[in-house]
Amino acid sequence: MSSIEEIKERIDIVDLVSETVKLRRSGKNYTGFCPFHENTRTPSFVVFPETGTWRCFGQCNEGGDVFKFVMKKEGWDFKEALQYLAERAGVELKPRTPEDEHRDEEHARLRELLESAVTFYRHHLHHTQAGAPALRYLQEKRNLTPETIERFGLGYAPQGWDIAIRYFREQGYTPEEMVASGMVTQWDDGRIYDRFRNRITIPIRDARGRMAGFGARILNPEDVPKFLNSPQTALFNKSRLLYGLDLARKAIRRREEAVIVEGYLDVIAVHQAGFANVVSPMGTALTEHHLRALKRLTRRIVLALDPDAAGDKATLRGLEVARQTLERSDDPVFDARGLLRHEARLQADIRVATLPDGLDPDEIVARDPQEWAALIEAARPIVEHVMETLAAGRDLDDPKVKVEIANRVLPLIEDVPSPIERETYRQRLARLLRVDERALTGGRPPAKRRRRRPSRQVPSPGSAALSTDAAAPPAVSLTYTAAARQEAHILRALLRNPPLLFRLDRSLQEAELGRLRADDFSLAVHQDIFRVVEAAVNQDLIEEEIYLLDHLSEDLQGVVEALLEEESLPDERFVPARNATEERVLEDVFRAVVDLRRQDLLQRIEHVRFLLEEAQQAGDAARLEENARRVLEYSQVLRRLDAASRRFAG
Ligand code: UTP
Ligand code: MN
Repeated sequence: MSSIEEIKERIDIVDLVSETVKLRRSGKNYTGFCPFHENTRTPSFVVFPETGTWRCFGQCNEGGDVFKFVMKKEGWDFKEALQYLAERAGVELKPRTPEDEHRDEEHARLRELLESAVTFYRHHLHHTQAGAPALRYLQEKRNLTPETIERFGLGYAPQGWDIAIRYFREQGYTPEEMVASGMVTQWDDGRIYDRFRNRITIPIRDARGRMAGFGARILNPEDVPKFLNSPQTALFNKSRLLYGLDLARKAIRRREEAVIVEGYLDVIAVHQAGFANVVSPMGTALTEHHLRALKRLTRRIVLALDPDAAGDKATLRGLEVARQTLERSDDPVFDARGLLRHEARLQADIRVATLPDGLDPDEIVARDPQEWAALIEAARPIVEHVMETLAAGRDLDDPKVKVEIANRVLPLIEDVPSPIERETYRQRLARLLRVDERALTGGRPPAKRRRRRPSRQVPSPGSAALSTDAAAPPAVSLTYTAAARQEAHILRALLRNPPLLFRLDRSLQEAELGRLRADDFSLAVHQDIFRVVEAAVNQDLIEEEIYLLDHLSEDLQGVVEALLEEESLPDERFVPARNATEERVLEDVFRAVVDLRRQDLLQRIEHVRFLLEEAQQAGDAARLEENARRVLEYSQVLRRLDAASRRFAG
């Protein structure tokens, strides 16, 4: 998906526009007659090579980038413009092939099959004798209410080798489809049998609520493994899916915090207790995909770890905890170093909450939901967590112990990108070990700092986002202008919380400024994304987030992802608020809009001044007057903008 940026980089906007408009150099920029409206007197059309944008300061009063120019000139949509410019730039776009279409159809069919499995298992849980013990277990042993059981679509897979198979066959599915869905296992001799037998079934859905697979827990304590999951299929990918995310998304956004627990049943129980911002991986290590999926919704991610995973000192030795179970013998569940790296790369705030000994989250909320709230509230940064875990129960007066702990924690501290945080941790470690802080750094050459991702660059989705070596030279040369940065900032806030647009518009109107419009944005992709956000909040059929996912074209989704991964603040002077309140975000976005319009106006005024000068030299009184009027007009708007930004200054 870096093709959009690649195209922009390769296409010279002056060359492109020159094919249609006769351009004349004027300082750093180029001017000409606007090709989009009748005009012969005033060259009101300006191309800004530095930013790769253009604007008509006359009648059209519109502008944009190369895409927007081609779209407007040819009357194309974004996709068509993209195709044309890609070809021209020699950038290969992966077109949707008939195979793609075919694959989508297959996936849709597998999802249907899985939906029918949900129905099938639900029926067996509620309406069969064999299912009765499973239902009793859920209600009595796990304290789940009928509503919760329904909400999470829990079911019962009957004991038998081909009960599900027969059902799927009746529904018209082929054995190949059954195998491809993961619901049925194939023996070496080609025979097939039901994968889940005599188990409680837990449907696993993707972030959009579409079926992906199942987790299934034993009823008979003798059976192994305790949990059996769908195998890796086209739809089921454990390293990407997070259990419960579809039901947790809203709460994560509202609470500005996501909590990760280890078990499916913990997710369910904690939701039932009123904390719906909880998800779990599927017995595997957390991946960057998992964290990224959450980071789209919030910066603050809390890992609520079982004491055995978080606190086991023996396994923490390697700063890595491996859990010994059949399905996941070598999956590290807690890897402090890896987490720190993710945290830095994603600009997230990852914390660890340690649960009381021997208790799972479901047991804690059963005991006292407020205890859960307090535990999560008390979550600590990764480094602190490791420090305290290593120190717990040790003799800190023993110099050998001090050295051992320092040697394990210092490398972690060196990994922290923020110098202030680093210093704080060092002080804390010194205090914990009761040593002089200099003893902890003494002799050590200053560690090489991992630099922040160069946020001044055009976000080149994919490549740059994943690049771990941020010290590498920037991949793209086109600079992300101050304006484009503001645009990205505004979009980011709106994508995270689309209804914010209503409040933003109200604030703008109260300040006698116009509502936010697509043409406040200079980049065509930003304009398009904004239109989808606008449409999302102006409908009330489905949740905005789903609407966005459904209506953003694949091209735009890549851009949106890159946007959301970028740091959420436009200016490093602002210290990121941990749980920025909506109020603060609103204020921040309001300011960004004002700033964006100011920059735009200043650019216009500068241009009109240039036209004024020209008119003066030419002795053209009519043009002189026209442009003087425009300067006046712009200045008035500028004053309003300044007044608006002063409102927030204090
Ligand atoms: P736990 O063994 O801690 O189970 O596994 P639990 O969720 O607390 O279940 P209860 O409370 O005993 O019913 C935690 C998670 O690890 C994965 C599952 O995702 C499970 O929810 N797991 C566990 C597996 O994938 N396979 C296993 O064999 C065991
Ligand atoms: Mn448990």
